[in-house]
Amino acid sequence: MKKAILSLFAITAIISLVALRPSTTAPKSGQDAREDSLIADRAKFVKQIKEAIAGKEKLPAEQVFKNIKIFKGRPAEQLLGIMENGWSKSLGVSCGHCHNTNDFASEEKGDHAIAGQMVTMVGKINDELLATMPAYATKDRKPRLGCSTCHRGEAHPGRPNRR
Ligand code: HEC
Ligand code: HEC
Repeated sequence: MKKAILSLFAITAIISLVALRPSTTAPKSGQDAREDSLIADRAKFVKQIKEAIAGKEKLPAEQVFKNIKIFKGRPAEQLLGIMENGWSKSLGVSCGHCHNTNDFASEEKGDHAIAGQMVTMVGKINDELLATMPAYATKDRKPRLGCSTCHRGEAHPGRPNRR
């Protein structure tokens, strides 16, 4: 009798495992699929550019690229890291949101200029407002914000349905 109950348990355990499986192999949700295609698209462009600048990754960005104002003095590979894992990811977009992907030096897209202005805004908030906030900013506590603080994966924070 005891044995029968045990094997019943074993059978229900197996059935529930089988029943759980489809959820792990089920097709990805629209959101996940979109995220995957963004990741692949960014990686494709970064790979192309890395091949084109091979051997110059550690040089200052302005010696490697054509139109550098913000990242002067930063290694070229760091600029690419920020583009891929910082800005693009924070905004939930790929490179083409801010760039003509046939000419990355071009500023023809409006978001290229906005990104530059956002950098200035973030700098002002961090250095002039947060860093001097009485009783909050101390030598052990340096409150800072970055692109993701607001954007959190959306180009239009607070208005997620706009693209
Ligand atoms: C939110 C807007 C934005 C996104 C998204 C973005 N970029 Fe940029 N990118 C810029 C801005 C602004 C600059 C200029 C930086 C400077 O002035 O130092 C730049 C500069 C560059 C440059 C230097 C071009 C040159 O010749 O001067 C490269 C290369 C580049 N980005 C690649 C990428 C890649 C690859 C991606 C995607 C993984 C990407 N960017 C995503 C805004 C963006
Ligand atoms: C204090 C909050 C805040 C921070 C921090 C912030 N942004 Fe924004 N950003 C906004 C708001 C608000 C908008 C306007 C969204 C809208 O139009 O609905 C915006 C819009 C943008 C846009 C235009 C999006 C589009 O498709 O029209 C770009 C590009 C952008 N931000 C880049 C950046 C980058 C890069 C950083 C980090 C250097 C950054 N932002 C940091 C609040 C912020």
